[in-house]
Amino acid sequence: MTAPLRLGIAGLGTVGTGVIKIVRRHRDMLEARAGREIVISAVSARSKGKDRGVPISGYDWVDDPVALARRDDVDVFVELMGGTDGPAKAASEAAIAAGKDVVTANKAMLAVHGHELALAAEKQNRVIRFEAAVAGGIPVVKALTEGLTGNDMTRVMGVMNGTCNYILTRMESSGLSYAEVFEEANKLGYLEADPTLDVGGIDAGHKLALLAAIAFGTRVSFDAMELEGIEQVTIEDIRQAADMGYRIKLLGVAQKTGRGLEQRMSPCLVPSGSPLGQLENATNMAVLEGDAVGQIVLRGAGAGEGPTASAVMADIVDIARGIRVPTFGRPADQLDEPVAAHSATPAPYYLRMALEDKPGALAKVATILGASGISINRMRQYSHQETTAPVLIVTHKTQREAMEHALDAFERTDVVAGRPVALRIENL
Ligand code: HSE
Repeated sequence: MTAPLRLGIAGLGTVGTGVIKIVRRHRDMLEARAGREIVISAVSARSKGKDRGVPISGYDWVDDPVALARRDDVDVFVELMGGTDGPAKAASEAAIAAGKDVVTANKAMLAVHGHELALAAEKQNRVIRFEAAVAGGIPVVKALTEGLTGNDMTRVMGVMNGTCNYILTRMESSGLSYAEVFEEANKLGYLEADPTLDVGGIDAGHKLALLAAIAFGTRVSFDAMELEGIEQVTIEDIRQAADMGYRIKLLGVAQKTGRGLEQRMSPCLVPSGSPLGQLENATNMAVLEGDAVGQIVLRGAGAGEGPTASAVMADIVDIARGIRVPTFGRPADQLDEPVAAHSATPAPYYLRMALEDKPGALAKVATILGASGISINRMRQYSHQETTAPVLIVTHKTQREAMEHALDAFERTDVVAGRPVALRIENL
């Protein structure tokens, strides 16, 4: 009979509580599947007395997560505290140094320190698993590290922040402004304590950086990610995009290009009828493309107690079964240093600008685009509002550098008010 696998859980928020519930509810089923019992030895959190709706008195309480990570009766340190540095990193490092495996839901810590943590773990013959860190309940890490390991991956895409997808789809269905829907999301408790993590694209960017490392065999490099949030997306853009057959999504795209690894998280237009275009509310989607398999689409809940705890449990059961996959799918010392290629892949763009209502104004816009080497595909002008008229342009495929050149020129001209909105159109 194999000895039980003993857990030390640090962080008893939504996810930690969810994990305890599954361990209790499915004890026999988990034992049958793992081939050994899974038990909780000790827990740690900020407040001991809080009612979590699940009994924890049967587990040892430890105030200091680092001490929990080092305990002799802990085989797997389950880090569910969050945060890039601080106690999460200190305790994970302590766990590895003490010869424990680590299961974490912490995308921020891994996106920034993942490489050094993976090196440390592998030196000690330990594993770090992080299914719950990316897209909640969707088994996308497992899909990439195991199910698709026979593929040369060509592109990884995802809508991986439920809060942003909720805000964008709710703006479209209600006609409310970004600020109004942001407030709604806040009341529903969707936003992170620091909402910039959500709406600034940082949380989703962390997730994409982790997937890119596995898919392309490169060191995780969040710093090289091009990041743009959804704060500037207006209800007008959403309406116009819909009118042209597109929806706006906070979309992450990572792909290998002739110039290096392109990683970007930004609002993009996607065809309304595509799987990404049809994604509603807080749901997440990962789209994975490999040379042999073609395209795989995974869809599901990206956050919440049950879905995230489900992902944590999958990692725990893998460890209990003796499945030991390197953190990023290959030994960390064999991951390549990525060369960052910023928006290397050309794409059509959606442009919205406020054009001064005077003779020759449109001609100047066309001249700027022409001089930047950008060709117009479609164009609309609406009747004017006071002194300016809204103009929408869809371009043919162009490089980002050319678009930046045009945007700078629009800012300098006397016929366009402010810098136009420019959103990439991602054809899927
Ligand atoms: N705040 C995230 C989201 C979940 O809205 O999807 C945690 O990463």
